[in-house]
Amino acid sequence: RIKLAVVGGGSTYTPELIDGFARLRDLLPLEELVLVDPDTERLELVGGLARRIFARQGHPGRISWTGDLDAGTDGADAVLLQLRIGGQAARNQDETWPLECGCVGQETTGAGGLAKALRTVPVVLDIAERVRRRNPAAWIVDFTNPVGIVTRALLTHGHRAVGLCNVAIGFQRTFATLLGVTPEQVELEHIGLNHLTWERSVRVAGKDVLPELLAAHGETLAGKVRMPRALLDHLGAIPSYYLRYYYQHDAVVRELRGKPSRAAEVAALERQLLTLYGDPALDEKPELLSRRGGAFYSEAAVALTSSLLGDTGDVQIVNARNDGTLPFLPDDAVIEVPATVDSTGAAPVPVRPLEPRYAGLIAHVTAYEQLALEAALLGRDGRTTGRADGRNAVFSALLAHPLIGQLDQADRLTDELIAHNREHLPWA
Ligand code: G6P
Ligand code: MN
Repeated sequence: RIKLAVVGGGSTYTPELIDGFARLRDLLPLEELVLVDPDTERLELVGGLARRIFARQGHPGRISWTGDLDAGTDGADAVLLQLRIGGQAARNQDETWPLECGCVGQETTGAGGLAKALRTVPVVLDIAERVRRRNPAAWIVDFTNPVGIVTRALLTHGHRAVGLCNVAIGFQRTFATLLGVTPEQVELEHIGLNHLTWERSVRVAGKDVLPELLAAHGETLAGKVRMPRALLDHLGAIPSYYLRYYYQHDAVVRELRGKPSRAAEVAALERQLLTLYGDPALDEKPELLSRRGGAFYSEAAVALTSSLLGDTGDVQIVNARNDGTLPFLPDDAVIEVPATVDSTGAAPVPVRPLEPRYAGLIAHVTAYEQLALEAALLGRDGRTTGRADGRNAVFSALLAHPLIGQLDQADRLTDELIAHNREHLPWA
């Protein structure tokens, strides 16, 4: 008898989630699912399709939707957060103005990622606070980006939260296909921070098969992460495609300058998807949805929620409190690694000492994330923050980011970020 609420349930991604809930109902037997979203028009379209997917697959669970957060999350055992403050329009800005200063334009990395964190953290904390008031035992599963910073905010405010991303599960499925084994047989040594991770080994039946994988499928894998094969061979590890923004930063900036933003692409895709969702004859997730980046996120969500609620103690790759796992990071940093998941939450399993080529970047980005979180929390302690203090906090975070780091750039980016996000910054 599980009740789940999805905040941001009007997302065009939701049918992916519903499809997973329907297929994996034995793992997570949902009795009630509530989609919560301020956009009631979208909710009607997405909710209608969600019900038809459940009906087609014979799922007995009830699906409803509401714009009222308190009513929708009341009595929930777990609340999934998958929201995007400002929608694709705000994302489009995050992906655009940094490029003018020679920095990558990306929704979770670099200056755009900071803008997203500043808009998102206060809203997510307010939501979590309201959820906790009514349901102190509820789990929060956070898909909301930037997942590392948002999860750190939730955990430092004492929430029962775990952060989740589909990068690891995507690699697991890819490797399983290439190796001709089931995904459950593939065990990843996945290390780093959200959107800053490497697959350091790939174990099947206890044996590391990464060297063989690279030898036999190096070209395919390099294509998947959109980096040169020579780089993968050099590392002897597989970086996630977000590492491209680091290892090939300037080349990516040139590439992004010459094409429409991902936000613009997604906005066009969303219009088509919503038209499809409105068709009463559609009762499955459409093929078109696979053009979004969220493949397998429903599997990850089901597995995590099921282990949190079922106290299973199995190992999953999630975003959790460091607590000494990477000894060169603060305890309250949030890392993305394999962790034991049970009814007390997610606890990282021990990690072999990291080579400097990973540790350096991880430490650098963690420091940025801490400063980003400090900037995002300004004005939440009841005290008012002056404009100069706010600007200074944003500037500090940008100067500390390994992709920025230079005075002139940090200065310009600070002004751009504030100019484009004024209505989201209480002090601006
Ligand atoms: C991957 C990332 C997510 C991100 C998504 C973007 O799934 O792990 O964190 O939100 O890509 O996909 P989109 O289709 O919106 O570009
Ligand atoms: Mn992600």
